[in-house]
Amino acid sequence: MNRPSPDMEQAREIISNDRDHVWHHIVQHQPIQQGEPMVIVKGRGLRVWDIHGREYLDAVSGGVWTVNVGYGRTSIADAVRDQLEQMCYFSNSAGNIPAARLADRLTGKMPGMSRVYFSNSGSEANEKGFKLVRQLSALRHNGEKYKIIYRDRDYHGTTITSLSASGQIQRKAQYGPYTPGFVEFPDCLAYRAENGDDPDYGVQAARELERVILEQGPDTVGSVILEPITAGGGVIPPPAGYFETIQEICTKYGVLLHIDEVVCGMGRTGKWFGYQHYGVKPDIVTMAKGVASGYAAISCTVTTEDLFREFLADPADPMQYFRDISTFGGCAGGPAAALENMRIIEQENLLENVSTMGDYLMDGLQMLKDKHEIVGDVRGKGLFAGAELVADRKTRAPVHESVGAAVVSDCLKQGVMIGRTNRSFPELNNTLCLSPALICTRGDIDEIVRALDAALDNVRL
Ligand SMILES: Cc1ncc(COP(=O)(O)O)c(C=O)c1O
Repeated sequence: MNRPSPDMEQAREIISNDRDHVWHHIVQHQPIQQGEPMVIVKGRGLRVWDIHGREYLDAVSGGVWTVNVGYGRTSIADAVRDQLEQMCYFSNSAGNIPAARLADRLTGKMPGMSRVYFSNSGSEANEKGFKLVRQLSALRHNGEKYKIIYRDRDYHGTTITSLSASGQIQRKAQYGPYTPGFVEFPDCLAYRAENGDDPDYGVQAARELERVILEQGPDTVGSVILEPITAGGGVIPPPAGYFETIQEICTKYGVLLHIDEVVCGMGRTGKWFGYQHYGVKPDIVTMAKGVASGYAAISCTVTTEDLFREFLADPADPMQYFRDISTFGGCAGGPAAALENMRIIEQENLLENVSTMGDYLMDGLQMLKDKHEIVGDVRGKGLFAGAELVADRKTRAPVHESVGAAVVSDCLKQGVMIGRTNRSFPELNNTLCLSPALICTRGDIDEIVRALDAALDNVRL
């Protein structure tokens, strides 16, 4: 019998450590207990390798649209290493050099925005936005303008309050009761709307926000939070006229506009931020995942100067300032990584690449839609795309989620990692998701589309 090589022995040990002690995110562990967890050990560009040396093309940037500039960026690792050696951490009640530089650089890409509050996850960044709204209500509106409106199908995070602001009933199930004061309004997915073919659909869908504000009473509504393009809820770009109308409604009723750029931010859609496609002027913008492409945990809550100034007051007053802290918002490695990440995006012209390659990806998906009856709709912007699978094109009946799972697993067998909407809505977990790194090439896209084509050939309803 062959003796296993030391590498194989080490792999076995790691796999058993993982199987015995790691609790993985958002997966049913039973198959792992009986089989084997996937352990990723190396990444370069768009490619990752598992512990057995199998190579994959990662078409979802680290599984959850995060590694925007691709794997193996030595310059980011060096920037973090140098910063940690110089000064790793001090609470952000004081400043540090990369945070000051990043705040300047970031707001330079966001006309109208001027202040950056650092924390370490998308959920936390959104929570800061909610706390700002609640405290502003306390300071300026007798505590009455405290409600926060969110949209069906959007997701804003995993904490109880960011889930309270999320429109994904399956993801929310079993974790309530939720934080009071969060109110939902309908999504803007034309494909599934009765009036979706109406040229005015975008305006009509946005008017739903006004309806809910009026129902609740405008004096009770502090903000609305929106993803520029709904991500995990099914990759839903806004229809024409949508955001212009949202902006008009927010201005009319004095409702702050909070844009969640956790997925779309940092170039994913071909502009620095997704909202910049739609000409809106947000009051709060949150971002996380792509800010440092996953090389460090960092998130930002960015506000206008006007909003910031509401919290300037007599220093002797113990209550009139933003009384919030995030311990790891003071990690200096995060902004150091983010600065280098931004430099790469700029220097390598990645926004341009995203637009060109995004169009090419969409052409590929359109070709798949023309060829495979099961593809009901394809949509997206830049390198951020979804393909909705249906059992019947006429009725648009969604496929069971096991069908999407089978397509994902077929692609994986071919060496291509794609994603899918997952445990978000009981009937509508039927969208395949693609979000390759911003550096991706035509060759990479050809490989992704080829794998999908073959997987769709193999899938059985
Ligand atoms: C749009 C959006 N907002 C917020 C979050 C939460 O971010 P995090 O997981 O970093 O807390 C996510 C995570 O997927 C997201 O997609």
